[in-house]
Amino acid sequence: MAANIISGNEVAKTIRAELKEEVAKMKTGGVTPGLVVILVGEDAASQVYVRKKGEACEELGILSETVRRPVDTAEAEVLALIDKYNADPRFDGILVQLPLPKQISEEKVLMRIDPSKDVDGFHPVNVGKMVVGSDAYLPCTPAGIQELLVRSGNDPKGKHVVILGRSNIVGKPIANILVQKAPGADATVTVCHSRTKDLPALSRQADILIAAMGVPKFVKADMVKDGVVIIDVGVNRIDDPSTKSGTRLVGDVDFEAVKEKASAITPVPGGVGPMTITMLMRNTIRAAKVHHDWKG
Ligand SMILES: NC(=O)c1ccc[n+]([C@@H]2O[C@H](COP(=O)([O-])OP(=O)(O)OC[C@H]3O[C@@H](n4cnc5c(N)ncnc54)[C@H](OP(=O)(O)O)[C@@H]3O)[C@@H](O)[C@H]2O)c1
Repeated sequence: MAANIISGNEVAKTIRAELKEEVAKMKTGGVTPGLVVILVGEDAASQVYVRKKGEACEELGILSETVRRPVDTAEAEVLALIDKYNADPRFDGILVQLPLPKQISEEKVLMRIDPSKDVDGFHPVNVGKMVVGSDAYLPCTPAGIQELLVRSGNDPKGKHVVILGRSNIVGKPIANILVQKAPGADATVTVCHSRTKDLPALSRQADILIAAMGVPKFVKADMVKDGVVIIDVGVNRIDDPSTKSGTRLVGDVDFEAVKEKASAITPVPGGVGPMTITMLMRNTIRAAKVHHDWKG
């Protein structure tokens, strides 16, 4: 039996339509959410992400500004920019695009953002709130994974979720989110990484498998059980002479082989990817509600 495809494009479209309506309502009440994105350097992937963030803001009616600085910008200048936007009431969210050039400390930059404007959910205050299950801005990719599960009818409650990868931006936060005693969570969670012994023995126990390693097609059919739900977070570019560009994107899961065993699976691209920016929009709108005490 071939798996249902969980379309991140479709789910993201539905959420964006909901958010657009919310922003329109807020605007008639005199509140316009605002997001500033700071991009230091010329990293090609970052340029694309930043452009897409601007486009998403425009689509939803969110005020957006992109601040670009050259690759040799001093750390002090970036910190001063953050101070400026922390104090600017037009902007509810501040996002500093990562990775940063090596002369700039990522930690110092993230710490400098006012936690109430930290729409990426990376400030330790928000990370701490997420861990204790209090109201926080959830990091965007993990929040998107949770939405995908719930909205595709695969509620993690009571399920064994196995996560492959323990990064601070995907593996650790999604583990923390899904283990909470809360709606859309209540899972039993196992986290695997490069030091895990016999990883396939654990992945085969998964009711829901979340692959976030950055290793192309790592998960094979014999590493999952029948009926598993798979969320493939990986985005890897591999050679493919049959395409015009000579490359294509694949996930961390061997999609063609595994889709015959899974009950549901996300594609790459078009799975988790579109959800990430959508969750950034949701966090920005939420920040505006907090800043303007919006009850509407
Ligand atoms: N769609 C999206 O919006 C989105 C967002 C973020 C990331 N991603 C993608 O998701 C993937 C993961 O990103 P990331 O930032 O979390 O990666 P990362 O920081 O490189 O972390 C990778 C994790 O996978 C583990 N790992 C790597 N190779 C392994 C192996 N052979 N066996 C077991 N564990 C292994 C590592 O273990 P150790 O900790 O032991 O080294 C690490 O915990 C990438 O492809 C990235 O492009 C997509």
